[in-house]
Amino acid sequence: MSDSSGPLAGLEEWEEFLKDRYPEPAPASPPFQAINPAKQKAEFRDYEKDARPSVREFYRLNHRHQTHDFVQSKRKEFLGLGRKQMSVWEALEFLNTLVDDSDPDTDLSQLDHLLQTAEQIRHDGHPRWFILAGLIHDLGKILCLYGEAQWAVVGDTFPVGCAWSDKIVFRQFFADNPDTNEARYQTRLGVYEEGKGLGSVTMSWGHDEYLYHVVKDYLPPEALYMIRYHSFYPAHRDGEYSYLMNQQDRDMFQWVRAFNPYDLYTKNHQRPNLKELRPFYDDLIKEYLPATLKW
Ligand SMILES: [Fe+2]
Ligand SMILES: [Fe+2]
Repeated sequence: MSDSSGPLAGLEEWEEFLKDRYPEPAPASPPFQAINPAKQKAEFRDYEKDARPSVREFYRLNHRHQTHDFVQSKRKEFLGLGRKQMSVWEALEFLNTLVDDSDPDTDLSQLDHLLQTAEQIRHDGHPRWFILAGLIHDLGKILCLYGEAQWAVVGDTFPVGCAWSDKIVFRQFFADNPDTNEARYQTRLGVYEEGKGLGSVTMSWGHDEYLYHVVKDYLPPEALYMIRYHSFYPAHRDGEYSYLMNQQDRDMFQWVRAFNPYDLYTKNHQRPNLKELRPFYDDLIKEYLPATLKW
């Protein structure tokens, strides 16, 4: 099945744009390290101006429609997890039926991306739950196969119900978001409390949050943070929204930051050999997850 539920030629196009915007991995630590303003200025490029029209339109739709109400209705629609029962492999195969329109001959499939991410994490000697997070982190993209629009599956995520950070890409498109007219959503804290933690913050809807709910009872918190916040670029790359976080969030975001380079920079054109890798991943999945998961 090809994904034509939006302006992007495929979900990949959003990720290519991310790589354009963040060509280098972030410094590993400490969290929220000050960015050297001189360096930043020298490297400044207008990514919004240079973005492809399809990417621009994708963000316009995302920012226009991701309202507090919209997210609540999607949470109600999907987080009952009553649609399917699938093993991780079945979900991987299901996700892999999603084919980008961009260039099916040379582009890697979703499964290739997940295996490459996991393999690089494994190669670097990280814990087993970290490898598993790499393998499954994008499985929430099956939302596309339920007919969900691209802008409601991928895209940088951000809190809804409070003021939008100035650092969110294409910030200007929020001017058409109906939440602009809700005064209670337009203050710095909005409907939230200072420092109470991201657990009580509603994020814009997409594949991160959906998968988090599918696996939340089974993985260590570090892996769950990676899964839940890997698209939260305004926080993990730009240091925004720290006032909504508590100490646990701050500690755990080191893991979200550790995960990001694997997600963004491990793509290569060598297709992983699934047959060879399968026994290792069978054991890994079994170690943490039940035979079937509710989706
Ligand atoms: Fe993702
Ligand atoms: Fe990914």
